[in-house]
Amino acid sequence: MRLSVSGRSAAAAVVAVAGLLTTSAISTASAGTTAPTRAAAPDIPVANVKAHLSQFQSIASANGGNRAHGTAGYRASLDYIKGKLDAAGFTTSVQQFTSSGRVGYNLIADWPGGDPNQVIMAGAHLDSVSRGAGINDNASGSAAVLETALTVSRTQYKPTKHLRFAWWGAEELGLVGSSYHVRNLPAAERSKIKGYLNFDMIGSPNPGYFVYDDDPTIERTFKSYYAGLNISTEPEREGDGRSDHTPFKNAGVPVGGVFTGASSTKTSAQAQKWGGTAGQAFDRCYHSSCDTTANINNTALDRNSDAIAYAVWGLSQ
Ligand code: TRP
Ligand code: CA
Ligand code: ZN
Repeated sequence: MRLSVSGRSAAAAVVAVAGLLTTSAISTASAGTTAPTRAAAPDIPVANVKAHLSQFQSIASANGGNRAHGTAGYRASLDYIKGKLDAAGFTTSVQQFTSSGRVGYNLIADWPGGDPNQVIMAGAHLDSVSRGAGINDNASGSAAVLETALTVSRTQYKPTKHLRFAWWGAEELGLVGSSYHVRNLPAAERSKIKGYLNFDMIGSPNPGYFVYDDDPTIERTFKSYYAGLNISTEPEREGDGRSDHTPFKNAGVPVGGVFTGASSTKTSAQAQKWGGTAGQAFDRCYHSSCDTTANINNTALDRNSDAIAYAVWGLSQ
């Protein structure tokens, strides 16, 4: 081996050795084992997530300032996501329901492939309240789940399990869209869902780092992502059952998620470990007209977008 290096430049020798080391590391890892290689979770580009937030803000501004159930702003938000997913190779379906005399929609997107009997699902509610554009609540979760799905396509990820993504309508009217979806799932389909991951308010301007303490495996997955960043988390306690994971949980599906806080006040202990302002709400614009693109903490949005990918990749292979 040394002999073959002689006569080449030092730089070429380093490249050659590095190449050999990489090759031998791979063969050592796979020697004597049949375990398949696990794909590492990708980094989700927060700039792409923010670009989706800008689109949702523009949609609200062009439609009376909101994206609420039963409005043109809601339908335009759904069409924006559907167009991106159809172009990326997802199989999408729009599920229609009626609530308070107005038509609403869920969007479901399946990534072709994977074991159809083992489904990992990630979702977010897409409707806002009528008071504002709903950018933290919940364009943040909607955009991060969208960019995760687009990254699945970009990387042509081939998971062991089947991946499904969902955007729910009429959450703000009482979890209406997600409840409708779960209620209309045949029992055989329901039992194929091995995990539902929910993302509602993940970029609060004065953020906390909360992990749902429902299914232990899913909780452990998010906690291990945050442990890797050296950030301590707390169990999500701001009103249990207040988002779209609840109908899944009540139907016996393992659920989990992350959350950066709504109208509750950040304590001084929390400000010490997470930064931000003690004595102030996690989101002072919760359900208000000031929930615009200015109402987002970029670091929290970036971390939680990457947390979604970490969990989707980690739980699907
Ligand atoms: N879903 C609530 C809303 O949209 C916000 C909320 C309160 C929440 N507590 C939560 C979201 C816990 C996720 C987890 O108004
Ligand atoms: Ca990122
Ligand atoms: Zn919400």
